[in-house]
Amino acid sequence: MPTLIPVLEKDHIEKLVGNIALRISADYQGHELILIGILKGSFVFLSDLIRRISIPVQIDFISAASYQKGTCSSGNIQLTKTLDIDIEGKDVLVVEDIIDTGLTVSYCMDYLRSFHPNTLKLCVMVDKYERREKKVTVDYACHKTGEGFLVGYGLDYNQRYRELSGIYRLKF
Ligand code: IMP
Ligand code: MG
Repeated sequence: MPTLIPVLEKDHIEKLVGNIALRISADYQGHELILIGILKGSFVFLSDLIRRISIPVQIDFISAASYQKGTCSSGNIQLTKTLDIDIEGKDVLVVEDIIDTGLTVSYCMDYLRSFHPNTLKLCVMVDKYERREKKVTVDYACHKTGEGFLVGYGLDYNQRYRELSGIYRLKF
């Protein structure tokens, strides 16, 4: 069994999410924002975020399977759930749990861009920048880290650990 090393405790996450929600609320003041979560990892972060954002929002989800090889994205990405709502001309913010190589999120952003939203930005819980292969502009990041495989707060390893309130680094 791998060991869990604490990275962000529950209270710390609450503060980080609150700060990002304040920034988003200020930046989109007077606009109706559509938040699109990338399943499954983003569902915990997204559910906390929408309750801290003070402007009206709509929610949708897309799901991307990236056929992971262990702890690394294969780059072979397919959408297994597409958009339900119309985002043409709308202000859209993509919400993702973690960006590593950037391949998954840039594929999703390209897909969403094809519907011609007015604006399309990206908000992530964790920006893991060291293994980036595809350049992506991260507009909002709660936490930045260079390396390590993280779990908890929606993040999984082989579908486990999503339910943990904190974020931990897996030591194999
Ligand atoms: P990317 O395509 O390499 O940027 O990987 C993005 C996806 O891989 C994320 O949506 C996560 O589902 C998963 N992933 C990448 N790094 C981690 C991690 O440290 N913990 C859990 N999942 C991760
Ligand atoms: Mg994910």
